Amino acid sequence: MPKITFIDVDGTKFETNVASGLSVMEGAINAGVPGVLAICGGSCACSTCHAYVDDAWTAVVGGPNDIEDATLDLANERKPSSRLTCQVTVTDAMDGLVIHVAKND
Ligand code: FES
Repeated sequence: MPKITFIDVDGTKFETNVASGLSVMEGAINAGVPGVLAICGGSCACSTCHAYVDDAWTAVVGGPNDIEDATLDLANERKPSSRLTCQVTVTDAMDGLVIHVAKND
């Protein structure tokens, strides 16, 4: 299972293994990572699973589709590396991925 490191807004690291096929959001929730609220349950409607993909991983993770892009406009402090973690499906190629949790409120 790919290992993903989440870094919360306070800089605390959470390392967890997430099965390929799950979303990054599901991995964060299962690991109890604070700040990934996921209020809509992963339907790309709330933006409270917003996070920043570490610069070293943006090419592997890729960018949002049009629907996610529109929902990301609702997020706080959107950046070029922003993704909604419920829309990122974990793959074996993401072993070592680093995700920075955004301020979600
Ligand atoms: S959980 Fe709501 S947009 Fe991702």
